[in-house]
Amino acid sequence: MRVLLYSGKGGVGRTTVAAATAVRSAELGYRTIMLSTDAAHSLADSFDISLTSDRQPIAPNLWGQETNISKTIETYWRDIQDWVAALMAWRGIEQIMVDELAVFPGMEELANLPYITDYYNSRIRKGG
Ligand SMILES: Nc1ncnc2c1ncn2[C@@H]1O[C@H](COP(=O)(O)OP(=O)(O)OP(=O)(O)O)[C@@H](O)[C@H]1O
Ligand SMILES: [Mg+2]
Repeated sequence: MRVLLYSGKGGVGRTTVAAATAVRSAELGYRTIMLSTDAAHSLADSFDISLTSDRQPIAPNLWGQETNISKTIETYWRDIQDWVAALMAWRGIEQIMVDELAVFPGMEELANLPYITDYYNSRIRKGG
């Protein structure tokens, strides 16, 4: 499995380039999932379709997903909390501080990583 991450300053073409790359990847025969974590999603607009926080098929070998931070946290809260606690402990920050830290920079990106882990573990079925 390969992960291609498009990040950077807003408006530079991240969504467009990610969508184009995903289409090419699918055409080459790689099973490809486009996952947008941007709260102001525009991935679906690139394809003139609607997408949800659940993965859905778009074309042969191509799936799309626009994650939603509330649902992501609801789904993966336990994992996220464990990671944050481990990270903070490593930096010498006490558990009480971790419990009080609801949101910190990078939280949204971090919270989406378990989707990738799950895809890696489940290896979606061909054509499914
Ligand atoms: N290679 C390109 N050449 C010319 N225009 C482009 C190119 N890539 C994207 N654009 C245009 O630039 C604008 C911004 O592109 P896009 O929405 O992909 O950027 P983004 O980085 O995802 O922005 P956002 O901050 O809104 O998420 C769009 O109008 C898009 O059509
Ligand atoms: Mg974008």
